[in-house]
Amino acid sequence: MKRMSCSAIGRRLVACLLNISEARRRDLVETVARSAITDKHGRKREGVTVLNIFNDFDYNRSVITIVASIDLIREAVLSACEHACSLINMSAHEGIHPCMGAVDLVPLYPLGKEVGLEDCGKEAQALATALTERVAGTSAFLFGWADSPQHRGLAQRRKVVGWFRKTFDMSTIQPDVGPQPIRRFGITGVGASPYVMNCNVTIDTQDLALGRGVAAAIRETSPDGIPGVQVLALHHEGAVEIACNVESIQGGSPSLTNGEEPWPSFTIGGQNFCHAPASLITARVAEMAGLHGVAIKGTALVGFTPNECRSLAEEALSKGIGEYWKELHRVHM
Ligand SMILES: *[C@@H]1O[C@H](CO)[C@@H](O)[C@H](O)[C@H]1NC(C)=O
Ligand SMILES: *[C@@H]1O[C@H](CO)[C@@H](O)[C@H](O)[C@H]1NC(C)=O
Ligand SMILES: *[C@@H]1O[C@H](CO)[C@@H](O)[C@H](O)[C@H]1NC(C)=O
Repeated sequence: MKRMSCSAIGRRLVACLLNISEARRRDLVETVARSAITDKHGRKREGVTVLNIFNDFDYNRSVITIVASIDLIREAVLSACEHACSLINMSAHEGIHPCMGAVDLVPLYPLGKEVGLEDCGKEAQALATALTERVAGTSAFLFGWADSPQHRGLAQRRKVVGWFRKTFDMSTIQPDVGPQPIRRFGITGVGASPYVMNCNVTIDTQDLALGRGVAAAIRETSPDGIPGVQVLALHHEGAVEIACNVESIQGGSPSLTNGEEPWPSFTIGGQNFCHAPASLITARVAEMAGLHGVAIKGTALVGFTPNECRSLAEEALSKGIGEYWKELHRVHM
């Protein structure tokens, strides 16, 4: 097997956190993941790795972390999308997570210093077009740096496009790319942005109103909120989950209070970015919930922080490991 040197692979890496609307049939999700690292002749694609597969049973939704250089990512992701579209039927979807498509989201995040947000945005646009050409009936909306020139964020685009519901009138949806959405595939969000982490803190209550109060207090738009953090409170497995999307923000750590750690940072195309650490989010949720006598049950992270993602990808690719998610399970168990 041909090995690639670290210097050749380390620089132009991008991550795709592919969200698909299926988790309960795990073999199906693994088939989709494997198709990212296998070409149409069944041969292993060099230079592509799947770092992680996250299945959320309740939400019937999975996140597959695919990493490759920007030159190789499109074919890998398209191949996974084609398989997902052939295997998942949104008309039959059940799950409590709001979602819009069989392939729900295709976000691209630059990991290598030499790949900029503009490059990722263009790649995402090309990916959306290719998807709608290859799988008849699929359509897409664009967000972040793929939504040019406005660069509107996912939350903003989703509000306009509308979340998938059984009774939803598909004819009112205006896709950016492809034909009028059909129920079987729904609509796929394709975009590019600085890395977004997902971090959920579960609190020991069934009181959703209380959870909403906690969520409101920490979200970035509130006066004492955490920059870059978008929050929802949801029922999850008999408790309330404070579900956070943690965006990376440009610049260094926001003003720190005594004893706080500086935020983890990384660079994209020569610019500095950083993100709120999971420990800070957990501490703030604990503090807010504590005011109501509610304790936290735990914190969960989907996948990795941006720095972890890059270093694991470099390791996987330098060793030629495509199914890295299996190695990871071995290490963590
Ligand atoms: C998708 O599911 C719906 C409802 O269960 C069904 O009527 C339809 O035939 C399915 N489509 C395909 C292509 O499997
Ligand atoms: C999970 O969602 C898929 C489609 O997205 C659907 O076909 C399947 O029936 C769902 N599973 C359950 C148990 O609802
Ligand atoms: C966190 O919550 C979101 C709901 O918005 C869900 O999609 C995701 O799977 C959850 N992640 C974990 C690790 O529980």
